Amino acid sequence: MSKNVTPYKDSSLSKKEQVTLMFDGIAQKYNWLNRVLSLGLDKGWRKKLVNGVKAQEAINILDVATGTGDVAIALSKIPSVRIDAVDLSTQMLAVQAKQLDKLNLNDCIKLSVADAEKLPFKEQFDAVTVAFGIRNFGHLEKGLSEMHRVLRPEGFLYILETSRPKKFPMKQAHLVMSNVIIPLLGKLFTEDKSAYAYLGKSATQFPDGAVMCNKLLEIGFSTVTHKPLSGGVVSLYIAQK
Ligand SMILES: C[S@@+](CC[C@H](N)C(=O)[O-])C[C@H]1O[C@@H](n2cnc3c(N)ncnc32)[C@H](O)[C@@H]1O
Repeated sequence: MSKNVTPYKDSSLSKKEQVTLMFDGIAQKYNWLNRVLSLGLDKGWRKKLVNGVKAQEAINILDVATGTGDVAIALSKIPSVRIDAVDLSTQMLAVQAKQLDKLNLNDCIKLSVADAEKLPFKEQFDAVTVAFGIRNFGHLEKGLSEMHRVLRPEGFLYILETSRPKKFPMKQAHLVMSNVIIPLLGKLFTEDKSAYAYLGKSATQFPDGAVMCNKLLEIGFSTVTHKPLSGGVVSLYIAQK
């Protein structure tokens, strides 16, 4: 099991409930804080994921932990795709719903409130994507197994997630960013003091690299590759069923 970092100390709520509450609370500011905290690099990371899906020529796609929809909306530019997009946070989905109305994407992207650990789908997707979602799952292995289950045979799972750079000076810069800068900016710009402390801390304690690849193989994926991006602050994992 991965180490279970939770957003709020001494809370009687489960991690899932805490995470949902936290994302509901920061939904309105999520997009621009994301841009600031990633120094604008997040768009390029998501583009790498989308390029993978495009090259695979996937048609039926599930975007898990879709949030405000950056990945789902980018995926919608691939011709002929049909996207299901799910999240636990109704407020994050509400921000995305507004965007879909504005961009006239309601026929292409279907939003639902659903738990990654209990997906309401059968074996039906050519590709499943999840960006910066898995480290928030209450049970990582359950979520990974569910994403494996809903993929068609030989379908691909694309995971974008924070990872830890191994080399100087990125290793040191990443520690300062995760433990000091992210919590500080979160404190300054959101009412939820714990949320960004949690996001920073969970980034430094989550399985990454070869450990994550082995986890995916244990779940049942046949092949797994991973590509560190921007010096290793983020990794793209691609796993085939
Ligand atoms: C950091 S945001 C990422 C959103 C989006 N994928 C992106 O790239 O910006 C994490 C999202 O994961 C969602 N989430 C966390 N645990 C979940 C679960 N068990 N099932 C579904 N969504 C979950 C949260 O509600 C939140 O919207």
